[in-house]
Amino acid sequence: MAQAQQTTGARSAAGRIEHARQQEARRVARRSFLRVSVFAGLTLSVGGLLAGFLGFFNLRNPTGFGGTVTVPKGAIPQPGGEPYRVSEGKFWLVNLAGAEGDVLDAGGSGGLLALYWKCPHLGCSVPWNGTLTGVAGFAGITGWFLCPCHGSTYSKAGIRVAGPAPRPMDTMELSVNSDGSVNVNTGKIEAGDEDNPLRAIAYSG
Ligand code: FES
Repeated sequence: MAQAQQTTGARSAAGRIEHARQQEARRVARRSFLRVSVFAGLTLSVGGLLAGFLGFFNLRNPTGFGGTVTVPKGAIPQPGGEPYRVSEGKFWLVNLAGAEGDVLDAGGSGGLLALYWKCPHLGCSVPWNGTLTGVAGFAGITGWFLCPCHGSTYSKAGIRVAGPAPRPMDTMELSVNSDGSVNVNTGKIEAGDEDNPLRAIAYSG
């Protein structure tokens, strides 16, 4: 009898231990689940905030100066026409007719060129003067970019022919879209050089 009672007591003790062990295992599992949930929640929140930030400032696909600026087909000058000023991208879009603007005979054959309007001398914005003529050495050419600050003078291809600027006007990367519009990457600026006219991209509209 006493032996039977001992056996029953041992069994119930073992049951209590097993029950306690299962409860502890459940507590551990619950804590792990909570930790994972909190971490996932934080990750989603930070990701959402970051996406919102990038979206707000449009950093993933910037437009305007520093990003890509699209010039619609209708705004693109005819070959030999007046340069088109694109304020949003701080550049002039020119459509050179043949060797137009290639005043140093680099071998240009025309096309579209995006000229950064910032003067390579001290940074003034350079306007186009479509009636300016009589530039020394180039009396037969009408129409020049003329810097209002110190008089640097540039051909339609941005080649410097007078003034203190150390080089021709800088150019921006340009590509033609299938619909005839043009993308200018204002974040990709190349220092101007005598080969500016050779950087022009052929354009047929
Ligand atoms: S800033 Fe243009 S010539 Fe000086």
